[in-house]
Amino acid sequence: GGEATTHDVDFSFEGPFGKFDQMQLQRGLQVYTEVCASCHGLRYVPLRALGDEGGPALPEDQVRAYAEFYEVFDPALDDYRPATPTDHFPTSSLDNAPDLSLMAKARAGFHGPYGTGLSQLFKGIGGPEHIVAILTSFTGEEKEEAGTLYYGNTAFPGGWIAMAPPLVGEDVEYADGHSNEIHHEAEDVAAFLMWAAEPKMMARKQAGFTGVVFLVILTVLLYWTNKRIWAPLK
Ligand code: HEM
Repeated sequence: GGEATTHDVDFSFEGPFGKFDQMQLQRGLQVYTEVCASCHGLRYVPLRALGDEGGPALPEDQVRAYAEFYEVFDPALDDYRPATPTDHFPTSSLDNAPDLSLMAKARAGFHGPYGTGLSQLFKGIGGPEHIVAILTSFTGEEKEEAGTLYYGNTAFPGGWIAMAPPLVGEDVEYADGHSNEIHHEAEDVAAFLMWAAEPKMMARKQAGFTGVVFLVILTVLLYWTNKRIWAPLK
């Protein structure tokens, strides 16, 4: 199972006040673009979201330039054209490579202890950790079965995955000069995929916090009101 090699990572976006790290999301986008996008897609993610506050927050001209990097099929033209910010990322170009839009939420990294799910409660669902683990747990073994190559990976259920190790370290040269050791690249792309799956996480946490503050104030007011109403009878 994945448990053995899925370690908790202290991501910036965890906890009630967690925030995505804009620079990390930009680095993750770079890894995704230069490495993962040759096989995987992000079909539910609109390209314009790359400019969102709380996300990678790329300036508008960069979002436009980035979009043009992809070709999309336009039914109106009955032809392919460069993508614009209103288009979505393309879908996977390799048939058996899953779309990664929701991957960070589709997988649970932690299950125990003894199937209680308590570590999920305390450490988060572990989707991004699962992605980090997959990317850093290749054993170097290979086998062929029914014409498909499988690669030993201790974090993948069953121990074999049909994806060749996409990262070996120093795969990208980060624009911000950050270390490109494999575990940094893996964490950065996992953070980016968490954002892709849950781009409104920060707005949701903010709304939740406002809600809790509101309820606390309401509780105090109702407590006083109650005291006052019943005061003459007590
Ligand atoms: C599966 C991530 C690059 C081909 C997966 C999965 C993830 C992932 C999270 C699913 C694991 C699961 O089901 O739990 C990434 C990331 C990449 C990357 C983050 C870049 C750093 C690539 C590349 C290729 C590829 C470049 C093709 C050459 C595949 C295939 C599968 C897969 C075929 C399905 C494997 C199976 O079901 O056994 N990838 N991937 N991936 N990926 Fe990648």
